[in-house]
Order: sequence, then C-alpha cells, then structure tokens
Amino acid sequence: MASPIHLQAVSKFFSGQAVVNAVSLDIAAGEFVALLGPSGCGKTTLLRMIAGFETLSSGQLQFGDQLVADRSFHLVPEKRNVAIVFQSYALWPHMTVGENVGYPLRVRSIAGAERASRVATALAEVDLTGFEARRPADLSGGQRQRVALARCFAMEPSIVLLDEPLANLDIHLRASMEETFRRFHARTGATMVYVTHDQSEAMAMADRIAVMDKGRILEVASPADLYTSPRTEAVARFVGHGRIVDCSIMERVDQKTARVAVFGMQTLVRHGGLPSVLPATGRLCLRAENLAAIESGGFEARVVSSTFKGAHSLLVVEPTAAPGLALSLHASMPATPGAIMRVAVSNGWLLPPPDGGITATLDRAAASVLAFA
Ligand SMILES: Nc1ncnc2c1ncn2[C@@H]1O[C@H](COP(=O)(O)OP(=O)(O)OP(=O)(O)O)[C@@H](O)[C@H]1O
Ligand SMILES: [Mg+2]
Repeated sequence: MASPIHLQAVSKFFSGQAVVNAVSLDIAAGEFVALLGPSGCGKTTLLRMIAGFETLSSGQLQFGDQLVADRSFHLVPEKRNVAIVFQSYALWPHMTVGENVGYPLRVRSIAGAERASRVATALAEVDLTGFEARRPADLSGGQRQRVALARCFAMEPSIVLLDEPLANLDIHLRASMEETFRRFHARTGATMVYVTHDQSEAMAMADRIAVMDKGRILEVASPADLYTSPRTEAVARFVGHGRIVDCSIMERVDQKTARVAVFGMQTLVRHGGLPSVLPATGRLCLRAENLAAIESGGFEARVVSSTFKGAHSLLVVEPTAAPGLALSLHASMPATPGAIMRVAVSNGWLLPPPDGGITATLDRAAASVLAFA
C-alpha cells in the first residue's frame, strides 16, 4: 500500500556544511513528485535519507503517522518498505535477469511458486517476458533499467525512489522509459520520488515538482503552475529558460492581468500579486512563446542570429531599447542577422513582488547560479 512521506525541517550536514537545509515537504500517498535541481544541490542526499542510507542531522521524517527518522532515531532501510532505482541499475552481473528480479524476495524468504509468479508478473510489467535466463551483460541499457524496475516492482514497495534512472540512456529510449515509469506508477499506485536535473523529464511525469538549489526547496508546484507562474526569478530562469527583464507596472487591470511598459511599449501580462503602490518597477518573465515577429506595432529589435530548426527558425534578437539583452523567439521564416524587425509581447508573467529587500537579494543570488541552464 502506498505511504505518504512527511519531511519536516530535514537537514544533513557534512563537515559542518548543510547539504540539505531545513527541507519541509509533504508527499501524498500515491503521489509522483520530482526533485529537480542542478548538480550538487542535495537531491541524492535527500533521497538517501528517505531510503535510510543516510541519517538525519536534524528534523523529522515520517511515513504517514510512523516516525522513520529524526536526530536520535533511525529506522533501518530494510524496515522501510522503500525501493530505490539508481542511474547505474545496480544489477548483480553473475545472476540471471530472473534471479536479479527475485533477489529481494529471496532475502525476505519468499520462495517457490510465489516468488516465481511475482518475478514473472514483474517482468511482464516491463515487457521483458522471456528474458529470465539472460545475464545483465547481454542486455541493452534500457533493458537493464527495466530489469531494475521489475526488481523494484516485485518487492511491492509502498515508496519508490528513483535517482536519475534515465541519465545513462539515449534520448529515444528516454521517451519510451518515461512511458514505462508512468505505467509503473499507475499500476502500483506507489508513492514515487524521482530525482532529476532534466526538467522535461520532471514535467512529463510528475504530479508536482520540487525545485531545489543549494540544499533548499525553492518552490513546489504542479508542472503547469511551475512553468506558467513561477514565484521567484530563480525558478523562472531554471524552468523553461525564462528571460527576466525589467518593466514598469502601470496598472492593475483585474485579478490576473496587469498593464506594463517594457522596451518602450505597453502590453498586458499575467500576474499573481502586485505591489501596493503603482506605478512601480517589476520583473517580467519572457519565454520564446511570449514573443512573436510581427509587421507593425510591438517593439523594435535587431536580429542577432537565426537558426533553422525545421518546423520553425529560432531567432535571437536584441531590443533597440535594451542593447545587450538577448531574447529568443520562434519564427516561421528565417531572418538575416543585423536586420531590424518588430516583435510583439504577449502573455508574459510578472513575477510577484519579493517579500522584502533581503528575499530579493537571495533570489538574485540563486538566479545567478541557476542561470547555467
Ligand atoms: N558522504 C558525503 N560526505 C561529504 N559530502 C558529501 C557526501 N555526500 C554528498 N556530499 C556533498 O553534498 C552535496 C550534495 O550532493 P548530492 O549527491 O546530494 O547532490 P545531487 O543534487 O544529487 O547532485 P548530482 O545531480 O550531481 O547527482 C555535494 O556538494 C556533495 O559533494
Ligand atoms: Mg545525485
């Protein structure tokens, strides 16, 4: 049966450094949550704490009402009914596929017909019926990862943790494996926590995404909310490569819409809260789909580059009113570098005002780190 996970102010210190820093997160039974963040932000460490391979320095971890770990208590991994799938598959090379999948059952003294039947069901779930006698060395990367998933399936765990399980696979296999994970989740109903630094993977599969940076959770939201209305600049930049530009907030049109001035023109944007006094300066998140080449109106820009992408051309343009700022947009036709064109802005997202100067400063610092994406 699926189990909820409650993390309350969970921290992990290594040599005095907080690698996971006061993380609080409630995951519902059967929910699929992705932990998304850049390398070194503490994703694996958090997963290892949930699995029981790592103790907590402070805070509390519960599965439903059951205390699993805190500063002075640590339930051993074998008693947590948690399965973990690694990037490296972690299959036993000397065992056959069937033996690998049956191994956790053997450890739990499940034998004979029941073990054989659970192994067969698990292999069927991942489309590997008939592969029982093969060795891992005789399988492709995708097949090996499916064996690891079948092993996890056979255990009937209440929680499944996945640490970058697709990182070693090529891009075509990844798409079909995403489907396998979704089906696995639907069939087992297990609570799933999926670690990745690939936002498209997180978007494709998760019910909610927790964006992490430097040991902290910056924001937790559904993929759609995180993409369309991020709360901070750091998340706006990290998810969907949002470009953040200054604007003047002119007026509140309604609960969801405001009028702003940007690049010498005015446009309507979406907002999730405005400063109490207007006009005021604001920060606007613009993605490629918020910009379009037009014949007249909009703002003037110079084409920096044009790359043919098949269905569209990716243009990078520089607004005349903001020299040095590079904006990306998709156009139906290629353009000549140096050409002057008009660009319309639509449906941009006005970031909510920061709580105070200190928060704003922290967000900017985090954003500069996350801007690598
Ligand atoms: N046992 C350890 N002792 C000391 N430092 C550690 C230990 N394990 C992890 N760290 C450090 O903690 C930080 C977070 O590591 P972690 O593996 O959790 O990051 P991650 O988000 O999973 O990164 P990646 O995406 O590269 O896998 C890193 O700076 C890492 O060097
Ligand atoms: Mg990791």
